[in-house]
Amino acid sequence: MNITVIGTGYVGLVSGLCLASLGHRVICVDKDENKIAKLKQDIIPIFEPGLKELLLEVKKQQKISFSTDLKLALNDAQAVFIAVGTPQDEDGSADLSYVLACAKEIAQYSNSYKLVITKSTVPVGTGFMVAEIIKKNNPNLDFDIASNPEFLREGNALSDFMNPDRIVVGTNNDRAKKLLKEIYEKFPEEKIVTTDITTSELIKYASNSFLATKISFINEMADLCEKTGGNIGELSRAIGLDSRIGGKFLNVGPGFGGSCFPKDIMAILNVAAEKKVELSLISSVIKSNKIRQEKMVEKIANYFGGNVAGKKIAILGLAFKANTDDIRYSPAILIVKKLAQLKASLKVSDFEAIENSKKELSEFSNIEFFEDVYAATKDADLIVIATEWNEYKKLDFAKIKTLVKSPKILDLRNILDAKNLEALGFDYNYIGRRQH
Ligand code: UDX
Repeated sequence: MNITVIGTGYVGLVSGLCLASLGHRVICVDKDENKIAKLKQDIIPIFEPGLKELLLEVKKQQKISFSTDLKLALNDAQAVFIAVGTPQDEDGSADLSYVLACAKEIAQYSNSYKLVITKSTVPVGTGFMVAEIIKKNNPNLDFDIASNPEFLREGNALSDFMNPDRIVVGTNNDRAKKLLKEIYEKFPEEKIVTTDITTSELIKYASNSFLATKISFINEMADLCEKTGGNIGELSRAIGLDSRIGGKFLNVGPGFGGSCFPKDIMAILNVAAEKKVELSLISSVIKSNKIRQEKMVEKIANYFGGNVAGKKIAILGLAFKANTDDIRYSPAILIVKKLAQLKASLKVSDFEAIENSKKELSEFSNIEFFEDVYAATKDADLIVIATEWNEYKKLDFAKIKTLVKSPKILDLRNILDAKNLEALGFDYNYIGRRQH
């Protein structure tokens, strides 16, 4: 099928390349000339494992092209995916201006049937708003609308797209349903959940809210383990073995971050408030996650009798999770900011997110950035693991012991080996460990 994807951000680019690898002819469109120029030269503007290889492969098969010209890109397209950003407005609601502007342009530039699919995470009712705008701006255009939310995790996006747990398609007629089934025909039929547009829009918010709730739940259980002496690793594993609960998304940490969870749960609350529905559980999750980050700073300060001023603290990890350069709502960044305000002397490191972090933290003069993890630990009074990069597990801790001022590690991701570190003489502490 001829498909146009509007937006070459994270979702748009991954979706466009994956749709091309399924055999469709895809044109990815973006207004950002710089981005399109880069993509034409095989430069991927974001960090995502496997994306570059996929780009080269589908280019070779002549299944993908990039353009800034939406009018031209719409000429032969049967399906158009809207995958532009829906940033958070000041009041927490989703800013739909990019999505709605797309709808208007699709209407203005189209002169043959189009299936217009929203891929961006949008509040309930957006699909119908898109339809209204198209109708108003091109009353004679034959078109359908559909909702097809993405469930891509950064760092795992290609595998999430190609091996999905389910593909949700929301449509309001059989023609749209048939076309969407054609787009995803390479996937087993039982993976495709067809529903109406409103339910599809709700499913995305509900999934992310549920996952965020699961994370906050296990983090609170860790707090309880810290006070009672329970073992959070074993607790998490044991409850996860109950198939009604499931073992995924039960890893403790410094709270959830990223471009989706914080934004989407604020947006669902906004939708609920508008409809005068109280979602008290989800409100509590936001509160719990906020407190979480404050608690992490407190934990760090406790090493120094509550006062971190002048203390040399090495923070390993800045990205909101491993395998990404994304620092949006990163708990690591929030912790670094707070410690910097409290006048700690910070040495921070990450494998992909240093460049983004330098921009975000430019106002502080007490933060030094290190590509080399070992250099970041030199003379440290405390090492904090803030992102779960796998590479941290493989560090030479015997060497680190010779570099630090004080052999203390606080692992906010519970990824290191306690026995090994204690044998080396480290004072090793992690989330859920009983406080002495
Ligand atoms: C998420 C959803 O998983 C994805 O389906 C959706 O489409 C976009 O939002 P992403 O933001 O890339 O994906 O990251 P995810 O892996 O879900 O992690 C989100 C946050 O939760 C991270 O800060 C991560 O560290 C944290 N997390 C995740 C935990 O603290 N514990 C866990 O067990 C899992």
